Amino acid sequence: MNPSPLAGLYKLPLPERVARLAEWAGLSADERAALDAGLSLEQADSMIENVVGRFALPLSVATNFVINGREVVIPMAVEEPSIVAAVSFAARLTRAGGGFVTRSSEPLMIGQVQILDLPDLDTAGEKLLAAKAKLLAAANEHHPTIQKLGGGAKDIELRPLPNTPAGPMLILHLLYDCRDAMGANAVNTAAEAIAPLVEQLTGGRVNLRILSNLTDRRTARAECSVPVAQLARNGLDGADVARSIFEAWAFAAADPYRAATHNKGIMNGIDAVALATGNDWRAIEAGAHAYAAREGRYTSLTDWSLRKDDAGQITHLHGVLEMPLSVGTVGGATVAHPTARACMKILGQPHARQLAEMMAAVGLAQNLAAIRALAGEGIQRGHMRLHARQVALAAGAQGAQVQRIADQLVAEGNIRTGRARELIGNE
Ligand code: MEV
Repeated sequence: MNPSPLAGLYKLPLPERVARLAEWAGLSADERAALDAGLSLEQADSMIENVVGRFALPLSVATNFVINGREVVIPMAVEEPSIVAAVSFAARLTRAGGGFVTRSSEPLMIGQVQILDLPDLDTAGEKLLAAKAKLLAAANEHHPTIQKLGGGAKDIELRPLPNTPAGPMLILHLLYDCRDAMGANAVNTAAEAIAPLVEQLTGGRVNLRILSNLTDRRTARAECSVPVAQLARNGLDGADVARSIFEAWAFAAADPYRAATHNKGIMNGIDAVALATGNDWRAIEAGAHAYAAREGRYTSLTDWSLRKDDAGQITHLHGVLEMPLSVGTVGGATVAHPTARACMKILGQPHARQLAEMMAAVGLAQNLAAIRALAGEGIQRGHMRLHARQVALAAGAQGAQVQRIADQLVAEGNIRTGRARELIGNE
């Protein structure tokens, strides 16, 4: 496969980098301007309460992603050094295996209605199921637009909880197709709308009416197959590196202490895309970790395996990430935030399911980068190089001086602000 059309972007000075990206993504002058400080103070003030300013984060792009045969440039908002370089590197490794293949479920969210004071959970459940059509109609009354687009309330399911600290309760799950919206408002409105009917039908008392962030009906899946030759390094055979990566994954699969860190690495990438596109990263985080524990024990979100040829030789490292990803591309900050709008343009204006699939590919690549580094040289060397830049900046270095001072700090193995100040003074 050819190299990414934006390969080497990181080597360009910042203004040229922006110009090159803007040209590639077809950004207008306004969209290009929105990449930096796109949100005005007035806009910020109308988004949340008690605004006193705006909080800026670096906005970067990851390159080398081929997703379902298409070149994709991934905007990422994140403060941690190494993440963008690492994910771009891992995406490059996957290109020789065709990049990422993705798919996703229908965008079904779950609205939960908690029903108490029921003499018999089974009887109440039967009454609700018998009135399914009526309940769905009531749930859909408030959102004719989403229904016209093929979305809206689709089904109900029941979840009896006979033994809670507050006694027995029945939970009604309203399955709601959100189409391209993240859908929190639509689902909550629908859950609230059916509550009186639920009480009437069951004779019970409704307490909570709220969506679930364990969106296991709204998942995205990415997979990739890296030919082992891509993994060879420092005289190490690619198959041996693949095996160490597999062992690193097996550790996370078996141990929640390791899985938490392993999954944090996955979320490094996913959250950064969520932020850049104005999506609710807390919702995604909540869903990810609940899903990782869905079988009663917290485990890895990714699955890595070794593919062998007929002679038993390892040929490919194969990875899959499937997880809940409730993201929207209409409404909310995705549309209200000018930088998020520009980032959506860079991504090629994906629909919500496509965006979720891209995020799954990013999570998988981020995980590959982390476990490859951890199973090899470790992550500190690369981290320290980037950390040295931050130290040089903090010490007052400017322009080209930043890299010069950072290189010197690394060469001396003394990455401290005091030493950076001395070096700046000596220049
Ligand atoms: C650091 O932000 C993320 C890692 O710790 C992830 C991992 O350990 O897999 C490198």
